[in-house]
Amino acid sequence: MDQSSFQKQFAALRDHRTAASASMREAFAADPKRFETFSATDGDLMLDWSKCAVDAKTMDLLEQLAAAADLEGRRAAMFSGQKINVTEGRAVLHTALRNLSGKGVVLDGQDVKTEVLAVLDAMGAFADAVRSGKAAGATGKKITDIVNIGIGGSDLGPAMATLALAPYHDGPRAHYVSNIDGAHIHDTLKGLSAETTLFIIASKTFTTVETMTNAETARKWVQKALGKEAVGKHFAAVSTALDLVAKFGIEADRVFGFWDWVGGRYSVWSAIGLPVMIAIGPKNFRAFLDGAHEMDEHFRTAPLQKNLPALMGLIGWWHRVVCKYPARAVIPYDQRLSRLPAYLQQLDMESNGKSVTLDGGAPTTPTGPLVWGEPGTNGQHAFFQLLHQGTDVIPVEFLAAAVGHEPDLKHHHDLLLANCLAQSEALMKGRTLEEARTQMMAKGMKPADVDKIAPHRVFSGDRPSVTILYRKLDPRTFGRLIALYEHRVFVEGTLFDINSFDQWGVELGKELATGLLPVVEGKENAAKRDASTAGLVEHIHRLRGQ
Ligand code: F6P
Repeated sequence: MDQSSFQKQFAALRDHRTAASASMREAFAADPKRFETFSATDGDLMLDWSKCAVDAKTMDLLEQLAAAADLEGRRAAMFSGQKINVTEGRAVLHTALRNLSGKGVVLDGQDVKTEVLAVLDAMGAFADAVRSGKAAGATGKKITDIVNIGIGGSDLGPAMATLALAPYHDGPRAHYVSNIDGAHIHDTLKGLSAETTLFIIASKTFTTVETMTNAETARKWVQKALGKEAVGKHFAAVSTALDLVAKFGIEADRVFGFWDWVGGRYSVWSAIGLPVMIAIGPKNFRAFLDGAHEMDEHFRTAPLQKNLPALMGLIGWWHRVVCKYPARAVIPYDQRLSRLPAYLQQLDMESNGKSVTLDGGAPTTPTGPLVWGEPGTNGQHAFFQLLHQGTDVIPVEFLAAAVGHEPDLKHHHDLLLANCLAQSEALMKGRTLEEARTQMMAKGMKPADVDKIAPHRVFSGDRPSVTILYRKLDPRTFGRLIALYEHRVFVEGTLFDINSFDQWGVELGKELATGLLPVVEGKENAAKRDASTAGLVEHIHRLRGQ
């Protein structure tokens, strides 16, 4: 990053923001081509950022900012397998997991595509065998339920994808157990039969305490129902730590590897996607990968002015850094993307929630925002009040498909889209006091009531949102969408000058939990801890009669 020219562009953007006076409402009125200017497409996928407080000069300055941050150079470094995850000395090559036909990437003298294709083929064969009943349970019965045991990146991606691709789901039912809270595995297993259940233990490191604890519980459950010898037919594993998997006792032909150059939160494209593949079949899974590869190629080659991930990243940075908005809401008007906000929380916040730059210094700008959301229209009846009239401005990202999977329910879909469009329009336009008054008078309200109530019916407007529109949420489109978000996080991380690919911030809590276990168990004295922790432990013990 060329710090001095970056700071120059940053200052120019700040000045430009301070000088701007027109509201978005005025900007739309003044420029009939605003939508055309501030929207872009890649095939059927459209990004509309015209309802953000930007103008041509903003985009120009943002483009120069990207050049100062050497976005192109960083992007080339990632795609070519340079070890850009500097704190862990690793390449970042999740894009290689979906680059199945083109030229492979050579890493440490080896073409990674050979290994990627070998694992994908093995996954395909196993998925087909489970789906057909060839890989049956110990008593010969066909597998009807798969339970993925994993957490973070080893859970959120496949769990989200299984929901998103429900119309393509023709394999066994898929369940996801992540939480160490015994309630999670207990409630999941309650309705299942060990004879027809297959567990997939998914953990990059195969040491994560939640996953290993749940895996042990699952093993005991199978053993209790079917005996020790049955275990082999009811377990498979996905990991980079093949030695630890072998120690756990899962048979080698049921173990699917991946590599340290795949970050946990970028791993749904790897063998971590196995439960999705079993659910929707290898062909649909391949379409999901192909879609992501299409987006990779778009990100790699499209000019900045039309490059959807770059544009999303630049607008995200503008909102976070120049406009100083602390959060962004992701609202899919697509019920099957109901887990997308949770998935993006890890992708975005674990990647860009950092306070140290690549060279170990302090960032000169705020870094990643708080990311949250829920599907529309549900969110409208919950937190949209704050989005429209709260004292903080929270940019919103709307996602919607033009076409649903249920032709018989087109009316539902039309209502869904009308609501989505209405929300972004309302956020942008708002309602003035005068408009509120006129509306109330037209309804025949008494002038005294109008005076009293009208201020409560005012919407400031000028609240930014972007809209991502696509034709239909099929596997290919879903792949494109997730890759779009991955690259957007990369773009923002580049502008923040941080390493988006490590996650040291999750370590401290893990270390302390290990030390606190004997204290909670009552084997060690709590007195050495801080007074709050000691007091809470004491109260837990009292409540348990310990
Ligand atoms: O807690 C953070 C984390 O390391 C994530 O980055 C990762 O996705 C998750 O834990 C699970 O890790 P693993 O796949 O090694 O069990």
